[in-house]
Amino acid sequence: PVIIVATKNKGKVREFAHAFARIGKEVKSMYDYPNVPDVVEDGTTFAENAWKKAKTVGDALGLPVLADDSGLCVDLLDGAPGVYSARYAGEGAADGENNEKLLSELESRKLGEDTEQPLLSPARFVCSLVLYDPATEEKLEAYGTVEGFITSETAGCGGFGYDPLFYLPSYEKTMAELSMDQKQAISHRGAALRDLMSKLGG
Ligand code: IMP
Repeated sequence: PVIIVATKNKGKVREFAHAFARIGKEVKSMYDYPNVPDVVEDGTTFAENAWKKAKTVGDALGLPVLADDSGLCVDLLDGAPGVYSARYAGEGAADGENNEKLLSELESRKLGEDTEQPLLSPARFVCSLVLYDPATEEKLEAYGTVEGFITSETAGCGGFGYDPLFYLPSYEKTMAELSMDQKQAISHRGAALRDLMSKLGG
């Protein structure tokens, strides 16, 4: 019972491993298949990029694969960084650099009056999943999202990516301050996984 996830993102790998362990499945990632070439993510939507990854990696391996394309959409930045979330501060940027870039973009747009306002903008995480079986050419798509706010200071060291800046008013915490179980219960990826499971009939 193995699930191959078409990603090299260690944060995603940890979350998928945790989620699928619950149903007795082991997760393999692109670290287990180092010969599969990187996929060029030049789509304009999360769904398009997820399909691209699933199709490319599935066809290369001749095995069913699950692909995740996800990111952060910030209202005050007209939806940016969106599909560019992983490389907002440049190709191969570290999470910390992307977070700094996000804060500096938001600071520069902030109105003079509310400099003390800690919540800088409404935002949402989005996750598109595609499960693809090259043997049957069957493709299953799933989607999830979570609403929150970008806060002016990072907090927490869990999760990955923009989690330390993503504030959830109902928890009075950032996503990075939640346990992995809590994150999975509310996150875009958790929601997309539940959508996928329900479409698989379980
Ligand atoms: P992708 O690998 O092209 O789908 O890019 C995903 C990027 O979106 C990550 O590198 C993060 O910057 C961001 N992202 C996606 N999911 C999460 C999450 O759960 N928490 C924080 N950042 C995320």
